[in-house]
Amino acid sequence: IVRTLTSSASRSAAIKRVTVIGGGLMGAGIAQVAATTGHTVVLVDMDEDILKKSIKGIESSLKRVVKKKFADKPEAGEEFVQKVMNNVSMATDAASVVKSSDLVVEAIVENLKVKQGLFSALDKVAPEHTIFASNTSSLPIADIASSTSRLDRFGGLHFFNPVPMMKLVEVIKAPGTSQQTFDSLMDFTKALGKHPVSCKDTPGFIVNRLLVPYMLEAVRLYERGHGSKEDIDVAMKLGAGYPMGPFELLDYVGLDTSKFIIDGWYEKDPDNPLFAPSPILNKLVAEGKLGKKSGEGFYKYK
Ligand code: 3HC
Repeated sequence: IVRTLTSSASRSAAIKRVTVIGGGLMGAGIAQVAATTGHTVVLVDMDEDILKKSIKGIESSLKRVVKKKFADKPEAGEEFVQKVMNNVSMATDAASVVKSSDLVVEAIVENLKVKQGLFSALDKVAPEHTIFASNTSSLPIADIASSTSRLDRFGGLHFFNPVPMMKLVEVIKAPGTSQQTFDSLMDFTKALGKHPVSCKDTPGFIVNRLLVPYMLEAVRLYERGHGSKEDIDVAMKLGAGYPMGPFELLDYVGLDTSKFIIDGWYEKDPDNPLFAPSPILNKLVAEGKLGKKSGEGFYKYK
């Protein structure tokens, strides 16, 4: 009994009210999953048009989920979508909504200064108990957290695209993250119906540290003329069981995002051949061919 009391007393209350900052694909996905699992969610973006687009995106993604889940009961499906949508509201000013928030999940541009600026401002207005988390894929959590006075209540929650489908969340414990905060983030991930893995605050955490060099190796293999894009993609799908080949996945993740990650690592460790820049990737990004989202990357999209 003593143990139960101690552990429940040292644990913070469950996370119920969530602010998601950034109305892009990741932010919208995180908001969707949190709302679906009964959390009260505010999705924040400075740009109202982006917000409207992400709310539409959430609705159409929910309809895809519902089409399968409620195949025989379309009316119950409609009701489900409405119920979930009722859990989501929008705001353009983060400072005005964090006051009633248990958790802030940030999924904005991958720029350290911008993230620090945001968290530093929110730190001053958020309640004491509010946990801050970043969905960064490439920046150290400790560097982002350093702009606040709540290092113990700051961690990483790294989701995967498409968020509604991908079961994994990497929960990152930075050196300053308290055990209680880490436990809360693990519990929150489980409450989302996702599977958490525990990560240290190291470059790329687990998934991107393995996935990005793999995708870049595929590009190098192609650059050397050792295989066509199509063959490499088919080979990895049929020979290694990947749902997408590396070029399809690069286009899906975004070539700009992939380049940003690899460039950051190269800058810190230029002698590691895994992090060497790729001429083709750089060229495509310079031409604005960013993958599926821009209509063309390694492949063309309608
Ligand atoms: N919302 C809701 N449902 C979705 C969805 C979405 N955004 N995307 C896919 N689905 C569901 C739908 O039910 C869909 O059926 P529908 O077309 O009838 O609606 C079903 O999945 C199947 O989708 P598709 O027919 O389009 O294609 P797939 O069977 O290939 O599945 C996939 C799509 C789940 C995306 C699968 O291809 C996959 O797992 N790909 C790999 C994704 C991956 O590796 N992601 C990680 C990237 S790394 C990352 O994100 C980290 C970052 O830091 C860079």
